[in-house]
Amino acid sequence: MSRSIAPSLLAADFSCLQREIELVNNSEACFLHLDIMDGLFVPNISFGIPVVSAVKKISRKPLDVHLMIVQPERYLRKFKDAGADWLTVHMETSPHLHRTLQEIHALDMKAGVSLNPHTQVSSLEEIISYADLVLIMSVNPGFGGQQFIPGSVEKVRKTRDLIRASGSKALIEVDGGIDLSNAGLLFKAGADILVAGTTVFGAKDPVNMIRELASAGR
Ligand code: DX5
Ligand code: ZN
Repeated sequence: MSRSIAPSLLAADFSCLQREIELVNNSEACFLHLDIMDGLFVPNISFGIPVVSAVKKISRKPLDVHLMIVQPERYLRKFKDAGADWLTVHMETSPHLHRTLQEIHALDMKAGVSLNPHTQVSSLEEIISYADLVLIMSVNPGFGGQQFIPGSVEKVRKTRDLIRASGSKALIEVDGGIDLSNAGLLFKAGADILVAGTTVFGAKDPVNMIRELASAGR
């Protein structure tokens, strides 16, 4: 999987979720990205497990669930039961990350590790061979519609080098402030998947925007 888009439902119209999800179903998006925020790890609360279950009934795309919550290991099974296919936890919330990734795999989900903007790529060295995905935050997590942090492009390049050197098959996903001005740069730097909320759901034609983002910089 490379050069794909994962629309973030956070920017969708929550009063018409079914229509918004169907729109993603009919696009070339690879995943539907779901942001879970607890008001503790991040200064915002989004939606929780019952919403993930409801979305699962409608989505034909795999659910890419991004946990921005403290002690994520307490909720792995709950998100599996709700329909998560890919489950990503933050490096910063997970003192026993190796065990947490093993538990995600034991529940038959793909396991991702996310890095906040200040967290060094080198912190992935010992864990990369256990991860299916690295999620590089290109904004401070907690809100949609923020400005892209330009240094994230270099961070993607470093992550690509580390993955290559380790022989890992982990995908690189980038999240926050993605638009047509940075999508091409990120793909060229080695990103496989770009998460986009505002740019997709704020577009006149979201399906076409997903296509444009995926082919940016070609
Ligand atoms: C931010 C979330 C993102 C967010 C992206 O904490 O992890 O997934 O929804 O939104 P945009 O694309 O609007 O920056
Ligand atoms: Zn996210």
